[in-house]
Amino acid sequence: MLDLKIEGATVVDGSGAPGARADVGVRDDTIVAVGDLSREPAGARLGAAGRVLAPGFIDVHSHSDWRLWANRRAESKIRQGVTTEVVGNCGFSPAPVSAEHLEELRGFALYVPAGMDFAWRSVGEYLRAFDREGTALNVVQLVGHGTLRVAAMGFAHRAPETQELLRMQRLLDEAMEAGAWGLSTGLIYAPGSYATTEEIVALARVAARRRGFYASHIRGEGATLLAAVGEAIRVGREAGLPVQVSHIKAAGRPNWGKVADALALVDAARAEGLDVTADVYPYTASSTTLRTLLPDWALEGGVEAMRARLTDPAARARIRRELEAPPAGQSLLDRVGWENIMVSYCAVRKDAEGRRLSELAAARGQDPIDAALELLEAEGGRAYMILFQLDEADLRRALVHPAVMIGSDGSALAPYGELAQGKPHPRSYGTFPRVLGEYAREQRVLPLARAIHKMTGLPARRLGLRDRGVIAPGARADLVVLDPRRVADRATYEDPHRYPDGIEHVLVNGRFVVKDGEHTGSLPGRVLTPP
Ligand code: CU
Ligand code: ZN
Repeated sequence: MLDLKIEGATVVDGSGAPGARADVGVRDDTIVAVGDLSREPAGARLGAAGRVLAPGFIDVHSHSDWRLWANRRAESKIRQGVTTEVVGNCGFSPAPVSAEHLEELRGFALYVPAGMDFAWRSVGEYLRAFDREGTALNVVQLVGHGTLRVAAMGFAHRAPETQELLRMQRLLDEAMEAGAWGLSTGLIYAPGSYATTEEIVALARVAARRRGFYASHIRGEGATLLAAVGEAIRVGREAGLPVQVSHIKAAGRPNWGKVADALALVDAARAEGLDVTADVYPYTASSTTLRTLLPDWALEGGVEAMRARLTDPAARARIRRELEAPPAGQSLLDRVGWENIMVSYCAVRKDAEGRRLSELAAARGQDPIDAALELLEAEGGRAYMILFQLDEADLRRALVHPAVMIGSDGSALAPYGELAQGKPHPRSYGTFPRVLGEYAREQRVLPLARAIHKMTGLPARRLGLRDRGVIAPGARADLVVLDPRRVADRATYEDPHRYPDGIEHVLVNGRFVVKDGEHTGSLPGRVLTPP
């Protein structure tokens, strides 16, 4: 007997093939039958006529490893239909940790919820601690290169000594053995940005030996985009492992259109036989920490050192000079303009949230650089911003490219409690429904089944996950029932803490986490280990 029978839905199986009407039978945490199951007895039945039944969505680029410690229900993700998140991205994971550099890692972290006690050291210890509490969705952990570097050498702005590199390699190897899926870098963020390509290749080789992949927030997404994509591909070629170019984009008006060239590099690498893919989120604004405005050297030594520089007149003058006329190519500011930078989160100056830096400066009678530096100083670097700097045509090009999948670059948030703060980028609430509603149904940029493939089968293939991302007998019962006429994002830049429409039921490992649009409180997710 089946535990659950989902009846009469249009099954879109994640392969990219168009949907077909079928029933789906679930026993325990597994899909056991697909087809006409009208004669099969079942403990529970769910009528889904007129609805689409899809595999649970895989968010291939997430930062929820921190926020899930504050709320295990994964509200903003599970309500989009996300059933697995890939975390530890952009060079940044909560483990491994070394006792000598623990405080630096905390400073790096910006946001450390109460439950995160850093009692762990290795990634294995971390994953066990995380899994103990239960979670609404499944988690795939990457190891951040920045975290490895902090563990081995703090925020030192130099190449690692031989011993330090060996230590990073050993920590990564242990992590891969303990259940991590690969290595991530964040090459615009200190201390990841201090690394040469050779250092990354030396680490990626360790991940390659354990059959992991390499995910990169590449070294530049503006003027240097193509060189940066080239570097990611080079790491794949030299270390011999698959490459995921994270949140592909061309930042700043002068660079609009370059996503086509970046995708041509991906195509060329694939033609050469390299396994290179990318992900994208369906918005024309990006978001990151406010301190990313600063030149690299200003972050050296960690957050306290940064704060000291902001109060030192000589250092501050140098920061100003470099912001006005950056030594290495384009400045973030030529690309964006102060009026296109919105402060999205502040720990201290809540009045600044939701306002443009140009507006804040005008209100205080300041010049925008002073306004930004003063805010950074007040926040100790903890503030976040949203940058309106991307091109819609570039976004559409990425959305339709066969090697590009969907990743939110957001975290699991909630419209209540401590995760309801600020005006975070709406991608944390809207990414997947926005692709399905705005881009598939309304704009017809791609067919629904292709869009779903980019959230299911395609990321599953990237991860080497055979039993998720598809609807077929034997696969795990991670499932979404959605209304294809209604599915839509509702989160906006002004009002981001809003759940989407049209996601009716979500099952993780055979259990309802969302039923009739409401969270059941169930926590059936687990830390997934590589095949
Ligand atoms: Cu990221
Ligand atoms: Zn990133």
